[in-house]
Amino acid sequence: MKLQDSKLNSLNDYKEAYKAAVENPESFWGEIANTFEWNTPFNKVLEYDWNGEPKTEWFSGGKLNITANCLDRHVKTNPDKVALIWEPNEPQDKAIKLTYKELLESVCKFANALKNIGVSKGDRVCLYLPMVPELTIAVLACARIGAIHSVVFAGFSASALAARIQDSGSSFLITADGGFRGDKTIPLKDIADDALKSCDTIKKCVVLQHTFESVSWNKSMDLWWHDFIDGLSSVCAPEIMDSEDVLFILYTSGSTGKPKGMVHTCGGYMVYTAYSFMNVFQYNQDDIFWCTADIGWITGHSYMVYGPLALGATSVHFEGVPSHPKWNRFWDVCEKHKVTHFYTAPTAIRALAKHPTTHITKHDLSSLKVLGSVGEPINEEAWNWFDTYVGKNKLPIVDTWWQTETGGILISNLAGVTPQKPTFATLPLPGIQTALIDDKGNVLMNKEAEGILAVNFPWPSIARTIWGDHKRYQEVYFSAFPGHYFPGDGALRDLDGNYRITGRVDDVVIVSGHNLGTAPIENSINEHPKVVESAVVGYPHDIKGNALMAYVILYEATNDPELLIQEIRTLISNTIGPIAKPDRVLIVSGLPKTRSGKIMRRILRKLASNETDQLGDVSTLLNPDIVDEIKRELTI
Ligand code: PRX
Repeated sequence: MKLQDSKLNSLNDYKEAYKAAVENPESFWGEIANTFEWNTPFNKVLEYDWNGEPKTEWFSGGKLNITANCLDRHVKTNPDKVALIWEPNEPQDKAIKLTYKELLESVCKFANALKNIGVSKGDRVCLYLPMVPELTIAVLACARIGAIHSVVFAGFSASALAARIQDSGSSFLITADGGFRGDKTIPLKDIADDALKSCDTIKKCVVLQHTFESVSWNKSMDLWWHDFIDGLSSVCAPEIMDSEDVLFILYTSGSTGKPKGMVHTCGGYMVYTAYSFMNVFQYNQDDIFWCTADIGWITGHSYMVYGPLALGATSVHFEGVPSHPKWNRFWDVCEKHKVTHFYTAPTAIRALAKHPTTHITKHDLSSLKVLGSVGEPINEEAWNWFDTYVGKNKLPIVDTWWQTETGGILISNLAGVTPQKPTFATLPLPGIQTALIDDKGNVLMNKEAEGILAVNFPWPSIARTIWGDHKRYQEVYFSAFPGHYFPGDGALRDLDGNYRITGRVDDVVIVSGHNLGTAPIENSINEHPKVVESAVVGYPHDIKGNALMAYVILYEATNDPELLIQEIRTLISNTIGPIAKPDRVLIVSGLPKTRSGKIMRRILRKLASNETDQLGDVSTLLNPDIVDEIKRELTI
């Protein structure tokens, strides 16, 4: 069997695969895994125990190297196929294409260089790079030699970088002189130097010359990337890894300040990212797939690097931002590279929707076949805008629900194959056994229900642990409902079994004894034609226990804020009920967001609760200045 034989081409195929994966998960995943190249075949498909200390192992005994599957395999059959199209921030006419053969050679060269400075299997290598092809090369070079990559998004501050280097015990750092973002330059080497003041594990720092700005240099530590690889062979035999050896660590934020290093392993991650990529996006051999994420996030790892490469696909990687040099940049890139699949985030869609549609209409987007959304619930307005203006009401939109922890997409429609429903991620993929649970731990048996989402059974790409803290892994993900994986999201399910993610369950606020999800209130506020985006949080209230505060961003300033606030309150009252009306509505120019575009509700809650001295570290925010602005607004 080939992997393509497990492509689901119809709703019926999906139903059959879903049933097969429930009835006999070992033979289902075993067959799919056998379509990859294993140096030693696995002898057990799945071993797990989610009741005690959680343990999940896939394809035990199997030996492989993921880069042999992502690169060498395709070089044998199709060496000149383009693996990567890199679109720089600037200049716009200098895109770079790397074929599978060229990518493999660059990976091997860099892998040899890493070996030369003593990097070996199991060592942690921290990558703090802009969105350049060398980031993909460095990721794959680590995987080539069995080193564990820990990519830190190049927008993080020195203290966030230091915390990740310390936690992972990284002994090598790969960075650049700087990175470009729109019309800004980010001095990555300076930030890295700052971080290294509090890290004593790093032995060498490799620096890519990218912005060509001058940097300070520590002779005993720093090496230029170009000197580092100079004269080295472009052949490097892949390190043979156990299926359960660690492939990478990727940090995600938790409910405490300390980031969680999610640990992903080789075999299961490879199998699931490839399978989900092929089926969710309905990938075909000549497609050009563009995911607008950054490799610093899980979306980049799974659907810019490993998933597409495992399929021998061509991916577009973009260094810039949607607004630079103008708000038509995304559509210009789609037209130029004849992009067939465009996968982005609701926050980007909402930002794009604020600008005239002529930015889109002047481009030929006829190559597009599939649109996708990831990262947060997509509100109806954003979904409709995406559908109307980008999809011209003709293209499937996949709403893909997943997490850093899940490694791959767990709930999504399959483009054009299973039904889509605006704002619903829809059905779980084959192998994903979902359930809804009430807050007392009872599984909700009715088809139509609303509760806390849980997953009952392992899938191959689940994170195996939190680096260095298996106890926290158990507590966070397996203690809420023993025997189930608990993602921390709420969801509702319709009569057809479609799931709509309603938001984090920690965003539920109890007002006068009523459970109120902040996400539906926000959806309701966002229906107001003047509103771009909103965030609702709870804050302590003498009588009700909690009251609600809504932070609202408008398309343009209003000359009658009182009337607008009244309209918003009426809208909520009409769509959800008077109980959901916020006590306070604050018009703001922005919301504090993480670098991945997620609203930092924790900060908004503290601001609303007047606990401004307990905001914690705001330096890792995308827009730390907004915090002071909101503080000022609140005191007026
Ligand atoms: O709350 C869910 C939301 O993002 C969380 C995972 O965040 P992260 O680990 O940063 O990964 C983001 C990229 C996969 C989830 O717990 N989320 C992600 N995708 C969706 C979503 N919420 C609703 N709909 C989605 N499609």
